[in-house]
Amino acid sequence: MDYNELLEMIKSRRSIRRFKPDPIPDDIVDKILETARWAPSCGNSQPWELIAVKKQTVRDEVVRMLDDDYRAKDKEPPAGPAQAQLLILICYNPENKPPAWLGRLVDSMFYSSLGNAALFMSMAVTSLGLGSQWVSHIADPSIEGNIKELLGIPAAWEIFDMLAVGYPDVAPKPRAMRSFDEVVHYDFY
Ligand SMILES: Cc1cc2nc3c(=O)[nH]c(=O)nc-3n(C[C@H](O)[C@H](O)[C@H](O)COP(=O)(O)O)c2cc1C
Repeated sequence: MDYNELLEMIKSRRSIRRFKPDPIPDDIVDKILETARWAPSCGNSQPWELIAVKKQTVRDEVVRMLDDDYRAKDKEPPAGPAQAQLLILICYNPENKPPAWLGRLVDSMFYSSLGNAALFMSMAVTSLGLGSQWVSHIADPSIEGNIKELLGIPAAWEIFDMLAVGYPDVAPKPRAMRSFDEVVHYDFY
């Protein structure tokens, strides 16, 4: 892949929040998950643990917990997770955090590593003609414990984020991105 192809793919990755009911073949699911394994992480710690929820009944239960929690907070639940054919939870064991002497860098290094895994998978999703939505609310303390229990995730672990994945049923409107000149500063700000 050359630079222009890469840039086009980066530009074409969008958050998708409406999905078709088409199932995702198992080999496609694994292709998505495989890319997370290759994400860069601090000290090559590879702190991610991925739970790929494929079964409809389990997905329904995750979505029910999510939606109930939104409603308990007087918020409208998002449509995407219920329509998605795959939910990927990115989890971690806090014991794998970088050493404490790194101070305020501990969290930034750790969470960027986990974010890289999520980003790699969302790029893979795009390259395979699917779409994904980050669902950060899954890690809210008001729901995280129940989700962990449902999915058999060890109590000591934590959930970082979730990707809801499916075949897009929407073409998102172009979004405004800050200009190159506004963002880039050569040599000095
Ligand atoms: C760390 C992170 C958390 C996000 N959490 C959510 C979320 O909980 N729900 C959601 O609908 N989108 C979520 N998003 C998607 C952003 O809203 C989206 O990336 C942004 O609006 C830009 O749109 P685009 O992805 O289509 O380029 C998240 C994105 C990131 C990087």
